[in-house]
Amino acid sequence: MKRTGFVLGIFLFGGFILQAADTGSQVLAGITNHYAARNFIAGAVSRADLDRILLAGVRAPSASNRQPWHFTVVQNAALSKQIVPNMPEGNVLILISGDGGQTNSRVILDCALATESIYLAAQALGLGSRIYTGPIDALNRNTQLKADLGIPNGYSAVALVRVGQVQPGVDAVSAASARKEANSVVSYK
Ligand SMILES: Cc1cc2nc3c(=O)[nH]c(=O)nc-3n(C[C@H](O)[C@H](O)[C@H](O)COP(=O)(O)O)c2cc1C
Repeated sequence: MKRTGFVLGIFLFGGFILQAADTGSQVLAGITNHYAARNFIAGAVSRADLDRILLAGVRAPSASNRQPWHFTVVQNAALSKQIVPNMPEGNVLILISGDGGQTNSRVILDCALATESIYLAAQALGLGSRIYTGPIDALNRNTQLKADLGIPNGYSAVALVRVGQVQPGVDAVSAASARKEANSVVSYK
């Protein structure tokens, strides 16, 4: 009986180790195999998915743990089309704003990390996502739009992540454009 328990324990522990290794591989695959979606289609993004995506942003690391960000989830089509025109129905914009924003490089880096977490979390849930900074300067100049979006006083927009349903069947690895070879951008000393 004791021996059976021991053997069972070994199997359970082995299973736990294998599962942990498998989870690690899935996390790495998510970090490596993303692409900036172009093929957004109409369709809702659920509140449950949005909550999980925003939690990834809220949990991002920041210098001295200052968390100098605010996240605005723009679901209102009239508002989001002022930022990114031609959004199919149901696409959502997540606007990342920083305290002191545009001129503070530490705040920008913190917001960038939260942006990446949001971008990857959306794809981990099977949604499409794309980061935008193109519309940011115009948005920051538009005080009325900033007020309509409820961006806190003293904050500036830093980046946007568009999240939405995408054409099914797109293979993330081949959808991404080529990257530089690792040996051209990495050096070991
Ligand atoms: C900081 C940043 C800003 C970006 N701004 C825009 C943008 O304004 N408009 C746009 O269409 N794509 C934008 N992108 C998406 C990039 O063009 C895309 O991530 C890159 O080309 C790699 O795409 P791939 O992963 O699909 O190969 C931005 C990406 C990053 C990281």
